[in-house]
This record gives sequence, structure tokens and C-alpha cells, in this order.
Amino acid sequence: MMPDGYYSSKKSDDICEDVCGEQMNRGVLSMSRLRCMLQGLDLRTFVFMFVIVPTCIVGIYFHGQKITYFLRPLWQSPPKPFTYIPHYYHENVSMEGLCKLHGWDIRESPRRVFDAVLFSNEVDMLTLRWKELYPYITQFVLLESNSTFTGLPKPHFFEINRDKFKFVEPRLTYGTLGGRFKKGENPFVEEAYQRVALDQLLRIAGIEDDDLLIMSDVDEIPSSHTINLLRWCDGIPDILHLQLKNYLYSFEFQFDYNSWRASVHRYQRGKTRYAHYRQTDFLLADAGWHCSFCFRYISDFVFKMKAYSHNDRVRFSHYLNPKRIQDVICNGADLYDMLPEEYTFKDIIGKMGSIPHSYSAVHLPAYLLNNADKYRHLLPGNCRRDGG
Ligand SMILES: *[C@@H]1O[C@H](CO)[C@@H](O)[C@H](O)[C@H]1NC(C)=O
Ligand SMILES: *[C@@H]1O[C@H](CO)[C@@H](O)[C@H](O)[C@H]1NC(C)=O
Repeated sequence: MMPDGYYSSKKSDDICEDVCGEQMNRGVLSMSRLRCMLQGLDLRTFVFMFVIVPTCIVGIYFHGQKITYFLRPLWQSPPKPFTYIPHYYHENVSMEGLCKLHGWDIRESPRRVFDAVLFSNEVDMLTLRWKELYPYITQFVLLESNSTFTGLPKPHFFEINRDKFKFVEPRLTYGTLGGRFKKGENPFVEEAYQRVALDQLLRIAGIEDDDLLIMSDVDEIPSSHTINLLRWCDGIPDILHLQLKNYLYSFEFQFDYNSWRASVHRYQRGKTRYAHYRQTDFLLADAGWHCSFCFRYISDFVFKMKAYSHNDRVRFSHYLNPKRIQDVICNGADLYDMLPEEYTFKDIIGKMGSIPHSYSAVHLPAYLLNNADKYRHLLPGNCRRDGG
């Protein structure tokens, strides 16, 4: 037996055929076929076809990314939670006391520490980073390519600004790398290629087993007392990630506490590979700052938006309009007009909209506060940027 619904629709087809079937002339016939088709549709179908469907298509075109991000909790479960290592620090507690608080022992002498970064154009962040870490770093290792991850030619920005970094010169291992300029390739391939070259540069810099190696982006800055603790204590994990406070545009906009990509390794020759993804479950709490898009000039923002691995997020050219970028910065809004990348509806909804302003400049890198005039754009209340 056929279901009822099938019968009734079959029936209406027959009626239409009876009424219209009399037409013989071919031209009239096709016209009347169209009329018959339209007769078959009621108002609701019309509204659906000509209002709802086009609205959805336009909506998906402009907001598709938002829709997929919003529905992310449905198709992706959160990664395995980290095992947090509580972090103890006060300037008046001795190093022996600090190691003990973490369940570690103090060493007779500190480990050597290597800080290795791939450099793009973050001149201010590199200055803050190196000034913060300077007392404890054996060798600063920096590699820059003449290609962005997205395969665009780029100047050697470090070379151009090298005179600003005279203070590290005796401890600097600097390398350059020619880009491969493969069109249409996934940016993560070029990024991986540059990280392999950084491994080689580290060996040239003289890294040895059990030296500490910091793997992080330039704008992921460990606090100096964190690195001092790790170099002085025995019994630390072979690899641990650093939990950093996440800031956007400046230290005025702290959006969460969940930066974890930076990591510290006890180097093992032939085994340690420079990486920027999850490598262990250990996460040392409150270990520094991650300041994304913390640039001085609007032109730096435009460069970074085009250069970094998620350049597919620049879906409309007006995203690169300087006036829009300035407004976005001052409002703590999103440069790509995207939703927060989170795994639960609670987190997505909680973080939607602009980041609230923060008026705290407590516990920031010392060099920043000691040179506040020069780095005013990174401090609360100074969102206006020059064009550059
Ligand atoms: C830290 O130590 C110094 C010198 O021992 C002492 O003068 C100061 O009061 C201490 N500060 C705190 C907050 O305990
Ligand atoms: C990039 O650097 C390589 C190696 O120094 C060089 O051969 C190449 O011409 C450079 N390309 C651009 C676009 O600057």
C-alpha cells in the first residue's frame, strides 16, 4: 500500500493535467506548464523559495564562518584537559623555597637557557620579550625568512631593525631562510619548513642535552621569574606548556587566561623538535603574557592579517580598511568579525561581543613600564594608532 500523502499529491497532478492538457499550441503549452507549476505552489512555498532560501544563502555567504563556529560544540569535543602545575612566586621567597613549593629540588647551578623564535614583523614584542628574558638567556636564536607563511615576499624586518637589538648582540644567533614561494599551498607547510630550519639553527647556536629550550611565538612572553625557576630546579617535567594571559591589541584587552602553546623543553639531541602544538599534558599556571596583534602602526596590522597562517579569514577586502581596523582596536572587537573559538556554548556566548577594557597595568613586563612613553600604545587608554 502506498502512503496517503503520495495519493493526494498524485491526485493534484492529475487535476492540473486535466485542466491544462487541452492546450495544443507548443508556445502556449510551455507557458501554461509554467502556470501549472506555479498553481501547484501555495503562498508558503513561495515565501520559502523566494524569501527564506535567498536570505539563507546571503546569510551563509556573509556569516557562514560564524555559523560553523557557533555550532562547533556539536561537531568537535574539547581537547583533553591539561594537568595544571600550581605556580608559586614571590620576590621575597628564596629560590630554594620556590623549588620546594613545586615539589622540586634546587640545583647547584642553573641550566643554560635557549630562546628560539621565528620572526615576522613584531619588533615591539621582540624588544619586550628579550628585555624580560635577558638576565636568564644563554643564547637568543632568531630565524627570519623572506617569505611569510602565506607565501608573500617580506623584507627581513629584523635585519632592518637590528640596531634596536644591540643589547643582545653578543648572545645572538641570527639566521635567514629563503622562502619557497609555492602558490596556493597551505600556509602550515611553509610554517613547518621554517620550524625545521630553526632546529638546525639551534644546533649551530650550540644547544646541548638538558639545556632548557623555550619554544614559542614572539608574542608569547614567559615572565622572567618563570624561566629563572625552571632553570634552577631539578625534577621539572621534560616538557611543559606555559599558561599565559591572553591579550589582544594591547594590555588593555585581556580576553582570557587560556594561552597554552608556549612550551619549555629539556633539550634532547635527536628527539626535541621545534613545535607549536600540544606536546604534553603539563601546564604551568600563570607563566606570562600572550599579546596578539599588539602592533604600533595600522600598517603592521594589515601586514599581519595578510601574512599569518589564518589569512583565509580575510574574506572581504574592507576588513583591511585602516579606519575599520582603528575602530575595531578601540572597541576590543574582532578583526575578522568572527565568533570566539570555543568548545562549549557557555564559553562562546560568554565571550561574544567586545572584550571589556582593563585598567590594570599591574604585573606587566618591567621593561614596558620602565619605558611607558615609548610603548604607550600597549598600555590601557591608548588605543589610537598611527598609520605607519
Ligand atoms: C622583602 O624583603 C625585604 C628585605 O629582606 C624586606 O625589607 C621587605 O619588607 C620584604 N617585603 C615583603 C613584602 O615581605
Ligand atoms: C629570498 O631569499 C633567497 C635566498 O637568499 C633568494 O634566493 C630569493 O631571491 C629571495 N626571494 C625574494 C622574493 O626576495
